Amino acid sequence: MFAKRTDWQQEPTRLASRLKQLRREKAQIFDLTESNPTRCGFVYDDETIREALAHPSVMDYDPQPRGRIEARQAVAQYYQERGTPIPTDRIILTASSSEAYTFCFRLLCEPGDEVLVPKPSYPLFDFLADLTDVNLVGYPLRYDHGWEIDFAALEKVITPRARAILVVTPNNPTGQLLRPRERDKLARLALKHGLALIADEVFLDFIWDDTHRSLAQTLDPRGMCLALSISGLSKISALPQMKLGWITIRGPVGPDAAATARLEVIADTYLSVSASTQAAARTLLEQRKLVQPQILDRIRQNLEFLDAKLSGNTPVSRLKADGGWYAVLRVPVSLSDDDWAIFLLETAAVYVHPGHLFGFESEGYLAISLIGRHDDFREAVGRIVEAVR
Ligand SMILES: Cc1ncc(COP(=O)(O)O)c(C=O)c1O
Repeated sequence: MFAKRTDWQQEPTRLASRLKQLRREKAQIFDLTESNPTRCGFVYDDETIREALAHPSVMDYDPQPRGRIEARQAVAQYYQERGTPIPTDRIILTASSSEAYTFCFRLLCEPGDEVLVPKPSYPLFDFLADLTDVNLVGYPLRYDHGWEIDFAALEKVITPRARAILVVTPNNPTGQLLRPRERDKLARLALKHGLALIADEVFLDFIWDDTHRSLAQTLDPRGMCLALSISGLSKISALPQMKLGWITIRGPVGPDAAATARLEVIADTYLSVSASTQAAARTLLEQRKLVQPQILDRIRQNLEFLDAKLSGNTPVSRLKADGGWYAVLRVPVSLSDDDWAIFLLETAAVYVHPGHLFGFESEGYLAISLIGRHDDFREAVGRIVEAVR
């Protein structure tokens, strides 16, 4: 009865079952996967947000396929302030970054076409690809005192069915930041093979080291190839519940306008961004100025503690990264990642993500969130080090 694309493995994993059982028994669990910013104790300007969402204009239905102009101007202002201006008519609003992906895949791919995705990276891609009948082809990120794209391996996996190369910068969970040199190389590669670039920039404002901040530029291949950047309020303003994302379109004159016109029709089919979110877009985006410093402070504080704790006599280490909300831990391969996660849950009451969830090629990796409350983070990291010992 059902389409094959929905034949997902829905059995809970061993880790999920164990977690559920422990929670049912009301055990206290230190959740190092918590990355819901609305549950991490950050301060928002609640009253201003509520007021903006209740703007009188929300009673008017004004269906604008690309999104209402005031909302797109707010997004344009965000890029202007970052120093990478984009005209409002090259912005398409969506209900989330996830929906933005769907629109991009629909724009570029016939069923069975391929999109090249970094490995390791964000696990939701698999579902987004299934739902849009796209085949994902992984290309490796290489770790050698820091993460970088393995260009030789990337070029090898490009087939005639490839339509786009996707980058996540900074990457979830590796924290890898696309360097300008890599960006230019990617653009040349995309041009050579007639591919588009898709850049997931939801974590672009979360570069840990101030000296690297200038490297965090919006993907702009200077007109060489079509570049679609995806972002949204989920991370930028730490407001995932507001459901506002967007696509910016840059590229050679002609294809950029054609891509925008087609994306506009896709967006018109759904008109998925609510009137209240659009009315409040400027206020919601302004919230970033209040929330981002708190998140960056939290990340710095948690990282500092983590690194101090791991500098002692422990076989656990942290992989180098430049930004994002996560850290990747290296643990001995004496256990599989799943067994490590279950072991830590059972012996230390700490919940972590096993690396295979993000497509790490080998065992020995765990991913943790860095935005959780500092006291809980300290306790959890202390417990991990103790349990591994
Ligand atoms: C790299 C990356 N892209 C996109 C998203 C999805 O964001 P949204 O809530 O806007 O769909 C996430 C969510 O965690 C993410 O980590």
